[in-house]
Amino acid sequence: MKKNRSLLLLLTLPVLISCNTGEQKKTNTDTAAGREWWKEAIVYQVYPRSFKDSDGDGIGDLKGIISKLDYIKSLGVTAVWLNPIYSSPNDDNGYDVSDYRDIMKDFGTMQDFDALLKGLHERNIKLVMDLVVNHSSDEHEWFKQSRSSRTSPYRNYYHWWDAERGKPNYRYSLFDINHDAWKYDSTTNAYYLHYFSRKQPDLNWENPALRKEVYGIMKFWADKGIDGFRLDAFQFTAKDTSFPAFPKGFENDFVKYYAMVPGLHNYLQEMNKEVFSKYNVMSVAEGAGNSFRDAHELVDASRKELNMAYAFDGVDIAKPEGYSIRRLKEVFSRWDSAFAQNGWLSIFLANHDQARMVSRFASDVPQFRELSAKMLNTFILSMRGTPYCYNGDELGMTNAGFTRIEQYRDMPTLNEYKHLQQTGGDIPKFLKQIQFSCRDNGRTPFQWDSSKNAGFSTGLPWLQLNPNYRDINVAVQEKDEKSVLNYFRRMTKLRKENPALVYGAYQLVDKNNPSVYAYTREWQGKKFLVVLNFTSKAAAFDPAADLSKAKTLISNYPGGSAAKQLRPYEAVVYQL
Ligand code: NOJ
Repeated sequence: MKKNRSLLLLLTLPVLISCNTGEQKKTNTDTAAGREWWKEAIVYQVYPRSFKDSDGDGIGDLKGIISKLDYIKSLGVTAVWLNPIYSSPNDDNGYDVSDYRDIMKDFGTMQDFDALLKGLHERNIKLVMDLVVNHSSDEHEWFKQSRSSRTSPYRNYYHWWDAERGKPNYRYSLFDINHDAWKYDSTTNAYYLHYFSRKQPDLNWENPALRKEVYGIMKFWADKGIDGFRLDAFQFTAKDTSFPAFPKGFENDFVKYYAMVPGLHNYLQEMNKEVFSKYNVMSVAEGAGNSFRDAHELVDASRKELNMAYAFDGVDIAKPEGYSIRRLKEVFSRWDSAFAQNGWLSIFLANHDQARMVSRFASDVPQFRELSAKMLNTFILSMRGTPYCYNGDELGMTNAGFTRIEQYRDMPTLNEYKHLQQTGGDIPKFLKQIQFSCRDNGRTPFQWDSSKNAGFSTGLPWLQLNPNYRDINVAVQEKDEKSVLNYFRRMTKLRKENPALVYGAYQLVDKNNPSVYAYTREWQGKKFLVVLNFTSKAAAFDPAADLSKAKTLISNYPGGSAAKQLRPYEAVVYQL
């Protein structure tokens, strides 16, 4: 195994979040023309398993989230995206759903869900749910029926290959211990397909009955009043079901082969017609295909598919050995310009599939951690596109620093470890790599205060806490005007008060500067300059404007900005 492909997958998976489109009135030829609530939203992603545990079982739950709604409101965010909360045997922390119309026992009941939705709406916060329908759990009733006989009415809900036909052509599985996506099942002497783990069989979207079931599920939640869907791994749903051979080594570039297969857009247009067009919900997809064209085909309003997608080019840049800031600028600028006239993007540097942004993109050493976290939050909250802020990043939470495999819980990581053991792979190298990139880094329990278990749970947390919770937590930061948390609140306020930060034209400033990422945002007579030093060193910067009359709106150093000479990780937003 040359690369840790499981982790690589997670870093490259495109994400589509779907918001209720309703009527898409106009093509967004002038970004000002297409004002929508979901473009102006600031999304806060809550990872329910790690947010707040109300009953002491060590697992976060819905009642826990309810108890923290005032905190969420205080952040100034306007929408919450919840990772899956449906019934699940939890092979992949809820991304293996066994009943799409019920709540996972660990998380609570449907009554709790209704109370959560009500509590969010009372606070004017929208709710976006994760929709996991590239695959289900193997413990879903559909799959149980499907695997029971070749003549089951549910047989074609999944992809089966009868063994008499020989072994099907190789398909790469992202999470399987052997990376083989075909699993033999003796009950009916056939193989089933699973792009993710064996317990996540892929659903057959060619089957209209399956599609109808999914729309029914979506309507069930939309009728409850939710405000949007994030479509998990949706770009992989369409498949060439003749399963032709792919070239050797295709797995190193599997998105090219798995994503955007013909049929996908028909499914999305049908979904839009059946569901999105009938409700005021937004939609966002995980993954944006392989090109700008793919992304446009997903999100351009005139196509009546989705509202937004998220692409992974940006988050993929950070590497253990560091990364090029010029490259970061180039990637974000290219995506921005490709969508300046049409379509809409998501902006993020972290989510539950990534390690912590402060550890990957800036610095988590005590001297720079707070400055870094403020600088990165300034970036996310001042770009064009809908910002997705991952819970804990408003505090500057850091990577966990695990050194032993026993500390990890992430299924693909544990499978990869076993795989390396079996094949004599380089285990120390792997441990080093996952210390930087494993998604468990971003899943450690939320740090509420400095009491036992960080106020997350009275029981033993399902995943170890980050020991730095005594210093980095909500209670400490609430008391400090200059904390990362209070800076985050000022940034959300600034964005909400200034639609120019949402819709304004984006232009790079001092383009070739190797340390500083600076850009203007301009809209309806208002112009802002955002200046970000992405390094731990002082950096010179050419603002290409007279800053003596500029107004400093926010800055992460006391006493305002240093204009042309930036201090380590300095961030400033000026009004020009
Ligand atoms: C993408 C999700 O974000 C990730 O957490 C999950 O493991 C895979 N899809 C499979 O559902």
